Amino acid sequence: MSNQKEPHVLDIKKDKNYAWCQCNESDTQPFCDGSHAKTDHQPIVFKADASKEVALCGCKQSKNAPYCDGTHLTL
Ligand code: FES
Repeated sequence: MSNQKEPHVLDIKKDKNYAWCQCNESDTQPFCDGSHAKTDHQPIVFKADASKEVALCGCKQSKNAPYCDGTHLTL
C-alpha cells in the first residue's frame, strides 16, 4: 500500500502496456500487482504512445489518472 502524496516520475516505453494501480493496495506502486482482487477497483491499463518521462499519480486522487494533475497539492 502506498501513502505517497506525490507523483511517480519515471520513464515509459513506446508501445508497452502499463497497468496503473487504482486501489492503492499494490506493493509495486504506481503499478498493479494484482492486489485489487480483494477490492472493488480495477487498474487503469494504458499503452505508451511514445517513450518519454511521465508523472503518474501517486495520491490516487487525480482527475486525469493515471497521470498527475496536481490534485496532490491540495491534499
Ligand atoms: S500525485 Fe499528483 S494528482 Fe495524484
